Amino acid sequence: MTTDAAIEAVGVRKAFGDHQVLRGLDLTVPRGIVFSLLGPNGAGKTTTVRIFSTLSRADGGSVRVAGLDVRTDRQRVRSRISLTGQYTAVDVAQTGEENLQMVGELAGLRRRDARRRAEELLDQFDLTEAAGRRAGTYSGGMRRRLDLAAGLVGRPEVAFLDEPTSGLDLPARQAMWRVISDLAGSGVTIVLTTQYLEEADQLADRVAVLNDGRIIADGRPHVLKQQVGGRRLELTFTTEPAFDSALRILSHRALSRDQHALAISVGTDGDAARVRALLDEIDPDRDRVRSFAVHDASLDAVFLALIQKDSSHV
Ligand SMILES: Nc1ncnc2c1ncn2[C@@H]1O[C@H](COP(=O)(O)OP(=O)(O)O)[C@@H](O)[C@H]1O
Ligand SMILES: [Mg+2]
Repeated sequence: MTTDAAIEAVGVRKAFGDHQVLRGLDLTVPRGIVFSLLGPNGAGKTTTVRIFSTLSRADGGSVRVAGLDVRTDRQRVRSRISLTGQYTAVDVAQTGEENLQMVGELAGLRRRDARRRAEELLDQFDLTEAAGRRAGTYSGGMRRRLDLAAGLVGRPEVAFLDEPTSGLDLPARQAMWRVISDLAGSGVTIVLTTQYLEEADQLADRVAVLNDGRIIADGRPHVLKQQVGGRRLELTFTTEPAFDSALRILSHRALSRDQHALAISVGTDGDAARVRALLDEIDPDRDRVRSFAVHDASLDAVFLALIQKDSSHV
């Protein structure tokens, strides 16, 4: 089957011992977009990226990257992708410029072309000023950007970024976000894993949520928000029995709940008549609801809601 997608994964399964990490993962990533794979720690994001980038074999299912089968066309897949992760492959004894030039020469570029490509990337990644300094003197954020730049020397079709901002402070994360946004216009498909919902919301054209070994939601960030209610009605209750009774009445309509805070949230379109009717339904005597507020759904809330919905099915 020929495909125009950057990635097409069907029914991917992977276990470590008897720990089933991926349980039939389906995913299609169109070319040229920033795609974010979102999931909590331990969800299987790195496992997925390692399978997609040929570093690890799936137990079952099929994966095509840049139109090629990762199982049977490993070398050609590798020549079309790059992978950068939390663990930087930068040589700290060399300058930023030397690092990029070396990668270029290893990739078969002539010295002069490697130098030109290095300059281009240093500029693109805001590293021109630091180009002549040893990478060992770089901040964590600069090193991470250099690592990402090194992955792009060979102009990959698909760049995998596994939690590119984890452990960075906010200014360094924002600098990374800027370079990733800029990259998005260059035609390379970016697959970015993150636990930061905010990051996916900022950068990604498409988001998929990985939970319990499967993709439980997949779409444009704003569409995901709509799926769980474009807005949320946040209710806080006066007592635990009031909270419990509201939860019984709302049942699956409750998108998230917080027993400790006696809070429940429900999807709503914000229409006053409907909000009023819902309040009357769960609080006919007007003594159960302490406060309520309508918020636009943050991707954070969407994420929690999707995970809670998903686990309530099993
Ligand atoms: N090589 C391995 N051997 C055994 N278990 C592993 C291995 N790699 C990952 N795991 C387990 O698989 C699960 C998913 O890990 P991972 O893909 O790293 O998650 P994430 O990147 O989303 O945090 C975790 O429970 C992890 O402990
Ligand atoms: Mg990981």
